Amino acid sequence: METSLLNQLTENQSDLIEKINALKKKKNAIILGHFYQRPEVQEVSDFIGDSLALAQKAVNTSADIILMAGVHFMAETVKLLNPDKKVLIPCTDAGCSLADSCKATDLKKFIDENPGHTVISYVNTTNEIKALSDIICTSSNAVQIVNSLPADEKIIFGPDRNLGTFVSKQTGRQMLLWNGACHVHRRFSAARIAELKSKYPAALVLAHPECQADVLDISDFVGSTAAILNYVKNSDCKQFIISTEPGILHQMQKSNPEKQFIPAPPDDATMSCNECEYMKMITLENIYQALLNENPEVNVDAKIRDAALRPVQRMLEISSKLGI
Ligand code: 13P
Ligand code: SF4
Repeated sequence: METSLLNQLTENQSDLIEKINALKKKKNAIILGHFYQRPEVQEVSDFIGDSLALAQKAVNTSADIILMAGVHFMAETVKLLNPDKKVLIPCTDAGCSLADSCKATDLKKFIDENPGHTVISYVNTTNEIKALSDIICTSSNAVQIVNSLPADEKIIFGPDRNLGTFVSKQTGRQMLLWNGACHVHRRFSAARIAELKSKYPAALVLAHPECQADVLDISDFVGSTAAILNYVKNSDCKQFIISTEPGILHQMQKSNPEKQFIPAPPDDATMSCNECEYMKMITLENIYQALLNENPEVNVDAKIRDAALRPVQRMLEISSKLGI
């Protein structure tokens, strides 16, 4: 573990990390963690990635137990891909406002009203939504997935309208967009980022495509969490304003100690930072309890499993063909 973090850990946290590592070994378990997780949770994870990398990793593991240090849809995707493995999520309340913004009955109605469209759904959705979809995408591959379809293909894209608008601009495709959003990313404001820019004129603005269009328009780079991390690593710039969940700063600082990262503030000036409370529900304590008790387990409704798995596999096939 990184020395600076090691120094900051409480005795209780160090003790829990030791116990978690022992349980992982004993039970042949792995922890897959997302970049928005608490620093100590990222440190106890065997693999950290964006949504696409986590799904890809889930296909290739020989572990018997996979614990998802992330939100519920990520654990559901892992279970879809690994029906015979035990998949754990340490806190069942770790949901996603974007996934919640699209209900299966409403999407079904929208599809019925607009026949003849290919339905592309962001991975931040429930399995019911995946089962209504033709292809899943993540922020890492959405542009390429849309571009992989014939130019005249009619497309419904959901649930994130901001990602959809961004993909439309990148691909030049008109798509029918679902009007959903992530409560964290829609809170970033172009005006507040512009204020920060005047304070740090040399800084580059890096944003996640779930941010609103006016934020993306003033950004120097737009990409998934993994793409933003990669951009920082390869850039000569020394200062960055980061317009996504601030959990990502842990890996940024770790890999680029000489660079400065300024988290973009939310539009509400009374809020000190823009965290995803769902991501932060995962703690060392509940990871330990989940591994110890092998519970809460994530299961997929057998009635929709095949239909939900098909579009996820289609995404993985397209990504693999394109080398993403
Ligand atoms: P990434 O796939 O870019 O990691 O994004 C996941 C997410 O939930 C963003 O809010
Ligand atoms: Fe969902 Fe937004 Fe949290 Fe990502 S940041 S998990 S999209 S609520």
